[in-house]
Amino acid sequence: MLTVTNNDSVLGATITGVDLSRPLSDKDFAGILRALGERGVLRFPGQLLEPAALRDFSLRFGSIQTTLTGKFQDANVPEVGILSNIVENGQPIGLADAGQDWHTDMSYRDTMGFVNVLNAHQVPHRDGKPLGNTVFANMHAAYETLDPALKEKLANATATHDFNKFWDNMCKRPGSTRPPLTAEQRAKRPPSVHPVFMTHPITGRKVLYCNPGYAIRINELSEAESDVVLEALFAHQLEARFLHTHVWSVGDVLIWDNIGTLHNALPDYGPNEHRLMKRCQVMADRVFQSDFIQRALAA
Ligand code: SIN
Repeated sequence: MLTVTNNDSVLGATITGVDLSRPLSDKDFAGILRALGERGVLRFPGQLLEPAALRDFSLRFGSIQTTLTGKFQDANVPEVGILSNIVENGQPIGLADAGQDWHTDMSYRDTMGFVNVLNAHQVPHRDGKPLGNTVFANMHAAYETLDPALKEKLANATATHDFNKFWDNMCKRPGSTRPPLTAEQRAKRPPSVHPVFMTHPITGRKVLYCNPGYAIRINELSEAESDVVLEALFAHQLEARFLHTHVWSVGDVLIWDNIGTLHNALPDYGPNEHRLMKRCQVMADRVFQSDFIQRALAA
């Protein structure tokens, strides 16, 4: 039986009693969706999945975005991306610096990200301590505690999100092996515009949907004012009281809600301390369909 145990934190729960390598019943999917809305980040321990099983589980939530570069994906299941600092025969086997700053996935697309699904295959350790944690921030709480005057000012505001911002910032980091994007790749990822405050499709509550990784401009404000307001939003949403740290174990499947949380993968491990994650990035194409959530939760 599916069991949800909440963390003693602003986000997160552990789910047991379900085998993700097998097709999920509608009842278990409903339980998982409900927990995702309530807790934002869900850990399923002890589930080392084959790529096809990771893809099939992820597909329950929506369509999967494949990589822009066509690199670092599973040879047989291209929906599964490889995130890793492992180098074999002089060649990296995965994207080494994925997600290593605050962001939420796919806010740069018209169809934003809904969930990420990560499966931990190797977790670096030093002196017995796991490294490469992923930290999350709760955007329901960030919205609810935002200064009322700022809430009113931004009530109908929109923000532009740009894929290039995160990519270019990562390229500038010392030792980065990310190649600059080609003009053709940039053209495939034009900026997107989303409301700064969104109604979350599962909870029906408002979230702050703006993140330092991709948001570049509040469209209704002058450039100068937009810069000031964005800095204020970024500082607020990353206050310690909204944060939850996930410490990885091999076999964890972690799913998180990209609409209601931000995340940051901590690069506190060295080149010989190997981390290997397999990832599916699921788009919010089904979750905003009028009856998807209603029907799923009714099971
Ligand atoms: C991501 O941002 O999807 C990667 C997070 C991680 O590797 O912990």
